[in-house]
Amino acid sequence: MKAGKKSYKRYTVTSALPYANGPLHIGHLAGVYVPADIYVRFLRMNNEDVIFIGGSDEHGVPITITALQQGISPQAIVDKYHEIIKKSFEEFGISFDIYSRTSDKIHHETASEFFRKMYDAGQFIEKVSEQYYDEATDHFLADRYITGTCPHCGYEEAFGDQCEKCGTSLNATDLINPKSVLSGNVPVMKETKHWFLPLDQYEPWLREWILEGHKEDWKTNVYGQCKSWIDQGLQPRAVTRDLDWGVKVPIEGADGKVLYVWFDAPIGYISATKELTPDWEKYWKDPESRLIHFIGKDNIVFHCIIFPAMLKGEGTYIVPENVPAFEFMNLENDKISTSRNWAVWLHEYLEEFPGKQDVLRYVLTSNAPETKDADFTWKDFQAKNNNELVAIFGNFINRTLVLTEKYFDRKVPPQGNLSNLDKATLEEMTQFPGRIADSLHKFHFREGLAGVMNLARLGNKYLTDSEPWKVFAVDPERVGTALNISLQICAQLSIVAEPFLPFSCTKIRQMFNIPAYKWQDATLLNWLPAEHQLNKPELLFEKIDDKTIEAQIQKLMDTRKANESPVEPRLIEALPEITYDDFVKMDIRSATILEAEKVPKTDKLLKLKVDTGLDQRTLVAGIAQYFTPEKIVGKQVSILVNLAPRNIRGIESQGMILMAENPDGSLYFVAPGEGAINGATVK
Ligand code: MF3
Ligand code: ZN
Repeated sequence: MKAGKKSYKRYTVTSALPYANGPLHIGHLAGVYVPADIYVRFLRMNNEDVIFIGGSDEHGVPITITALQQGISPQAIVDKYHEIIKKSFEEFGISFDIYSRTSDKIHHETASEFFRKMYDAGQFIEKVSEQYYDEATDHFLADRYITGTCPHCGYEEAFGDQCEKCGTSLNATDLINPKSVLSGNVPVMKETKHWFLPLDQYEPWLREWILEGHKEDWKTNVYGQCKSWIDQGLQPRAVTRDLDWGVKVPIEGADGKVLYVWFDAPIGYISATKELTPDWEKYWKDPESRLIHFIGKDNIVFHCIIFPAMLKGEGTYIVPENVPAFEFMNLENDKISTSRNWAVWLHEYLEEFPGKQDVLRYVLTSNAPETKDADFTWKDFQAKNNNELVAIFGNFINRTLVLTEKYFDRKVPPQGNLSNLDKATLEEMTQFPGRIADSLHKFHFREGLAGVMNLARLGNKYLTDSEPWKVFAVDPERVGTALNISLQICAQLSIVAEPFLPFSCTKIRQMFNIPAYKWQDATLLNWLPAEHQLNKPELLFEKIDDKTIEAQIQKLMDTRKANESPVEPRLIEALPEITYDDFVKMDIRSATILEAEKVPKTDKLLKLKVDTGLDQRTLVAGIAQYFTPEKIVGKQVSILVNLAPRNIRGIESQGMILMAENPDGSLYFVAPGEGAINGATVK
């Protein structure tokens, strides 16, 4: 198979190893795994030798932080999420040849060996440098253990290894106002020894390989990020960390140190291949293998610069041929966020939309964040399901089958004399497989899927224009021809839609009683000979109603509400200074409430009779919204007794009861405390 200028014997397709510290959401599927799966299914249908590698990334600070938050060990975290993630991938038909994990022994060995080989060849710089250290918890603060302001975009919660806002890869010392995630403290600097990959030495090669060699074929977002990195000047980068979770640094004098997660994780692709096949080397070392990394845009630098430099440095490996990185999928106009629970989780989707994997695959592909961030909305999800999958694709297949059942007992009628419309339609059909294949070779998944839908549209229009329901009474043979051609279009759809909608295409094949064809069969046009027996029609897709969609939107609104921290009422500011003499003018006494009643026609006022020790007197207090009369009789309170009497609603109020008032307006008695008799002075 020719792809680009070179020819290739085989494909090694990897997809980013997700951190095993949480479940998967639609952003994962949209940006990495669905496109990778489409591509791989397409290659397999083309009889290519291809392996599709996946696995869980189980090291690094993201894991240990989650462990800390959940109060369990890192191993327990990765064991839990590896299973959940693996299951979601299986359920959505992500057809890995292997789904491995970086905590496997084979990976620890492979990563150690890789490091060791480079180390022995003198390819690292050993350097004692000052790193941030949290004295309160006795930890060096690598990567995500430290947050601060991004020097590039000003985002205040950038991590020590990367700013998730602008995507820039950082060193902890780049951060402005660094803070320890463990204690919140400002860290100190402390000396520690590490091994650095001298990226600067790879610059000439990177320039030639990427900037000159891949200007044409790499996506502009990928090429642009690489160029800006290289142009900014590459720095040596530490590939070890002071942590106890990860692959131990396999040399003397490196106790308490592990490989940097971004050093070990991509080697995970190689370890997984080893686990898959004893023949693993040909997928990684033969220049006629085409290595393709599917990743999200936050992984570009690691896959285009750092990992290739490692592969090049090690010396026996090939480097990626292409890195089709996707942008991000947002959700209802807001960035997907695990911590804010702003996501559609795959395991929840499957519970709420059982059997509708293809609907999600379809929506995420037709709106894929291929060249810029895209937005998933539930309304769009509903519209794409109802107006496209149901009304176009499903409707065409169903109408064709139902009419064949009605007129021809589910047997394919022969193709009789061809009209001009028949000929034009057959001619147009032949164009689709090639066009869709071109799109897929170029990683234009949206365009490829649009091609599939256009074939369904062609079928729908042809069937409608042929009007079998009108013609049958006068010319059944004509109807036979029209249905024959419609059925062939259905069969062709089952081939070209297969990479995108594998579950539905399996169903189509069952209904049509046909095998899984190869891509090259898509142009045959005679998959269904006359008399071929079809099975009973079933609906491929069903409408999704407003209520279902509103429930999903409501769920997100509830999340948003839960996230909005209640506005803290603020205390009123202190009053201007007074003198002691001002203060002693106030005669405040301990007193007991003897009687209480509501002041008629008011909401707030209670009329109280109190014993001040000096006398019994009447006063009016604005506390009725917080206290019922019967509840407060007998309470000991503090009364300002020398306040000039005031007339309130026709009642003479002789003094004032002291209350503490919260910023939200709630009131509390200022009680003198046990032992204070009525008349005791309060100072
Ligand atoms: N775990 C990383 C992430 O989720 C991706 C690792 S990709 C690999 O961003 F190449 F390192 F495996
Ligand atoms: Zn930034």
